[in-house]
Amino acid sequence: EKGGYEHFMLKEIYEQPRSIYDCMRGRIYPLEGKVQLGGIKEYTEKFKNAQRIIIVACGTSWHAGLVGEYLIEEYARIPVEVEYASEFRYRNPIINENDIVIAISQSGETADTMAAIEMAKEKGATIFGICNVVGASIPRLSHAGIYTHAGPEIGVASTKAFTAQVTALTLMAFYMAETKGTIAKSKLIGLLSELERIPKLVEKALQSDQYILSIAEKFKDVRNALFLGRGSGFPVALEGALKLKEISYIHAEGYPAAEMKHGPIALIDEEMPVIVIATKNSSYEKVISNIQEVKARKGVVIAIVTEGDTEVTKMADYSIEIPHTDEAFLPLIATIPLQLLSYHIAVLRGSNVDQPRNLAKSVTVE
Ligand code: F6R
Repeated sequence: EKGGYEHFMLKEIYEQPRSIYDCMRGRIYPLEGKVQLGGIKEYTEKFKNAQRIIIVACGTSWHAGLVGEYLIEEYARIPVEVEYASEFRYRNPIINENDIVIAISQSGETADTMAAIEMAKEKGATIFGICNVVGASIPRLSHAGIYTHAGPEIGVASTKAFTAQVTALTLMAFYMAETKGTIAKSKLIGLLSELERIPKLVEKALQSDQYILSIAEKFKDVRNALFLGRGSGFPVALEGALKLKEISYIHAEGYPAAEMKHGPIALIDEEMPVIVIATKNSSYEKVISNIQEVKARKGVVIAIVTEGDTEVTKMADYSIEIPHTDEAFLPLIATIPLQLLSYHIAVLRGSNVDQPRNLAKSVTVE
């Protein structure tokens, strides 16, 4: 049932070209520049008039929410707040009938996320669910929503569910942008054609597996790791750090690269790898200065770079290439090497990667 893979996690990492495709199948029409989301169609007016969107989730799903914030604000120009469901539910949040709450959950059963939407619903908000498990509690509690269609995720550490959530949020952002008229048709046509290529690009990113294994062998005994990124690379850094800590039990932190100098820079030495999302996009030059700051303190840099990069490659100790894509889709590709890195480090350390200690696949108690 693991399809020849040693662990479910590895199988699920490798399933991503397929699961991302399944999430967008029948929903995008690149030639016409159209996105069709049957699940939320009757709420089109609601999105058109939305003053703000609140995204609630936990863990990896919360990281997907941060990517969603970036996409929805960029393309649909609707203000977005991303909240930990557990914090949101115990505040006295200001919510009204014009608010849209998007709950993201792989399992659709996470207790805190459920309680958060129950509260928001009581206050009159419209609730959308982005879930993987069909017919779970969160989809049933929501007014509408879309399924991620990633297929069953068995490994406790979320991998293909995350990239499917990001895909679903991308579709929603484009859908809202299209209905609100905040995106030019030609631009949307270009983006959707690129989105259609993403499964192929993910496949390409997976080809670095052996090289990533060789990096994992060098770093398997470290005690700490720092992950840095800017823009939508920041949630990718958070997700990379979470993956590493939950399955390898190495302490890891994700930070916006520019925040490093406000504290974490004190940790940098020859022992601690700093994993940097340093792809060619709008923050490239800024990230290069952040890498220089790390190198000036004798830090070890593992960089995720765009294929063909020479500038970062010169400075970094190790560079993992990923194919170039539009900045909108960077998280879908840049996450792949980080999943593989955590997986290999965890296996080399002898952890039970599919069932890490103290963790459950579905957190139904708060
Ligand atoms: C991390 C992980 C958890 C879940 C979190 C939310 O790999 O799996 O952080 O993302 O417990 O779960 P769902 O998405 O089922 O609500």
